[in-house]
Amino acid sequence: MIKESWKQKGFVDEPIPEGIDLAAEIRKMCKEKNAVILAHYYTDGAVQDIADFVGDSLALAQWSAKTDADIIVMCGVHFMGETNKILCPDKKVLVLDLNAGCSLADSCNAADLKKFVDEHPGYKVVSYVNTTAAVKALTDVVVTSSNAKLVIDSFPQDEKLIFGPDKNLGGYINSVTGRNMLLWNGGCHVHGQFSLAKILAIKAEHPNAKILVHPECPAPIQKIADVIGSTAGLLKYSIENEATEFIVATESGILHEMQKACPQKTFIPAPPETTESIGCSCNECAYMKLNTLEKLYNTLRYEWPTIEVDPDIQQKALRPIDRMLEISKALKSPMANK
Ligand code: 13P
Ligand code: SF4
Repeated sequence: MIKESWKQKGFVDEPIPEGIDLAAEIRKMCKEKNAVILAHYYTDGAVQDIADFVGDSLALAQWSAKTDADIIVMCGVHFMGETNKILCPDKKVLVLDLNAGCSLADSCNAADLKKFVDEHPGYKVVSYVNTTAAVKALTDVVVTSSNAKLVIDSFPQDEKLIFGPDKNLGGYINSVTGRNMLLWNGGCHVHGQFSLAKILAIKAEHPNAKILVHPECPAPIQKIADVIGSTAGLLKYSIENEATEFIVATESGILHEMQKACPQKTFIPAPPETTESIGCSCNECAYMKLNTLEKLYNTLRYEWPTIEVDPDIQQKALRPIDRMLEISKALKSPMANK
């Protein structure tokens, strides 16, 4: 029975039984219930470590499209759970906290997008995966930061395109493809906060450090990057590059996997504008950090919160996701599979 207090809070707020081995109990429930735990790189290290699979947005979608588990537990944010549900409507999809939203997804609602599309007849709509199911239902093809260029390149050069909601990723794709897509004016509050001056100050102290930048960062930050890529792309670069120091301009959860993969290398989180000092603070996505081991235990135990998507929206949103997965087939998203 789903308690009223849980519904109000958006997560199961039952106390954890005393003295239990949380990690062992979580793994045990997964086995009993044929459940898999997926986690995004921005979640807490303890959540990543217990997951069956850790990856970027593309890898998570690719993975959920092929799982034979009965239950998918998505440790990430709401739109990721929705993507899983759209891909697997017959499975039970669980998230840990319904409050785990996304400022980027919030920056584009379906009604506003519909109006914009109606004002621009003849345009195809390309949506970043960080969108609601209702926005995806209005979309011709979905992209992630791993495959955005590949997907855009699949359109004829003169195709008229609307790209949303991330204006920074859209601007980056325009610059590397020579296109002039119409950009939605949305953004992520985490990636929009990095301080150019503070990153340059760290670089001055660590002249050999490589600067890793996620394309959700604004253009001035992109400009000083040694590499621009998705979380998985940046992780791959940090593993393969011979440098020993890296300044990382994306959500700081990715440092967990980087440090695990390269214990001998130094990873410095790029600081946001809002802190006083340089080099000792990092940018965290408060939504991602709502995912905790305690909530994971309760979510599995009570099989709630579930993600539900209206069947009509699900069918309409599936098409652009399937199209993305089809185009990306050849592209093996670099991933941390366990
Ligand atoms: P990627 O995992 O595709 O790099 O996306 C980052 C992100 O913002 C997820 O919310
Ligand atoms: Fe959304 Fe930004 Fe958090 Fe990613 S980091 S989930 S884009 S708010």
